[in-house]
Amino acid sequence: MNRSSKLAFAAVALGGAAIAALVASTVTAQGGVTIKLACGTVGSQQALCKTAAERWAAKTGNKIEVVPNVASSNERLALFQQQLSAGSSDVDVYQIENIWPGLLADYFVDLKQYVPEATIKEFFPSMIEADTVDGKLVDLPWYGDAGLLYYRKDLLTKYGYKSPPTTWAQLTTMATKIQAGEKKANPNFWGYVWQGAAYEGLTCDALEWVYSHGGGTIVDPKGNVTVNNPQAIAALDMAAKWVGTISPKGVTTYSEEESRGVWQAGNAAFMRNWPYAFPLGNGDTSPIKGKFDVTVLPRGPGATGKNAATFGGHSLSVNRFSKNAKAAADLVVFLTSAESQKERAIVGGYNPSRPSVYKDADVLKASPFLGRLYDVFANAVVRPTTVTATKYPRVSEAFWNAANSVLTGKAKAAAAMSDLENELKRIKGAKW
Ligand code: GLC
Repeated sequence: MNRSSKLAFAAVALGGAAIAALVASTVTAQGGVTIKLACGTVGSQQALCKTAAERWAAKTGNKIEVVPNVASSNERLALFQQQLSAGSSDVDVYQIENIWPGLLADYFVDLKQYVPEATIKEFFPSMIEADTVDGKLVDLPWYGDAGLLYYRKDLLTKYGYKSPPTTWAQLTTMATKIQAGEKKANPNFWGYVWQGAAYEGLTCDALEWVYSHGGGTIVDPKGNVTVNNPQAIAALDMAAKWVGTISPKGVTTYSEEESRGVWQAGNAAFMRNWPYAFPLGNGDTSPIKGKFDVTVLPRGPGATGKNAATFGGHSLSVNRFSKNAKAAADLVVFLTSAESQKERAIVGGYNPSRPSVYKDADVLKASPFLGRLYDVFANAVVRPTTVTATKYPRVSEAFWNAANSVLTGKAKAAAAMSDLENELKRIKGAKW
């Protein structure tokens, strides 16, 4: 999704556009077939996906099978590319990221064949636009994501803070103080947990550090490699200092779920994560139930500092090699319907891809931040996927490896950014 589409998403979500019909039209499914579905696995994702798909199966007289999958975004992309390039029909419906349509478009059916136009119109037009490649509707958008700062309200109060930090410097100070106090009784306690492993998630976190310092988006929208700049270097230096001080050394191997594990056990004052961690943290058996809230991630210093959240999100596509594409498309329509999205927003904290769901009182009660955090979504920063096109996976890998080498102390930020600039220019070649 590009910047204007994401802004439109936020604006429509909160600005009060016409409420779309809550009932999705569905294509008529074939009966008696088994649809194999590759759901995501992070947090409650797989369980929610399976329950909803089973409801569809019961309703239509089909069967579903949730196939094994991997959590890491880039590993999933590699797996899917491997399966699809071999013409495999082992998976009928793929949960894909909204940064992949351009990479996988050839392997998916044009959903316009199966989904009525009226149904397509019920989604954020900007998301549909981002999921359309050369006129082909590659997927139906399922949910949007943006990085959030989770903070413990009770601990802020205990240590004399009235509100969450607004700058990274404040976060560092507060995390240091809270950690020093809490560690006395709990040696496992840390100030701040986030995603530092060498994978796509680190690209998201590090982009937030860099962008919030005014250091740009790695590659600018014109295609220039911009990452080797003083603000980006300062941003990475800052994060490297957290490792082993306010963040455990092991944070350099953490993805979303490792950070949530520490946080949800009550062992962290702050966490960077996506909205899915909100309902899980408030689950009945969660030790931190009711003790935390979310806000926008902090700003970098000075005049160039601004808030930043990386924009993410996921969609559903139908394999063009599927033997049951019509039924598979029907499942996609069912899973992305307003009713399913309402459940996913309430139980899973997933930001709906349909404007109508944002008006639902039950949804706003369960996930109040969906309405409140306008700025997080309005200021969300997109990864440079559009401009780098099919080379994005290599760009991202080079960036997360450079960031991880700084975090683990293998390289200094200035040298790492200079090497990264050269590497990205090599990947770019004459043009992206
Ligand atoms: C979340 C986001 C996705 C991002 C991934 C990184 O799933 O929705 O956009 O790429 O996290 O781990």
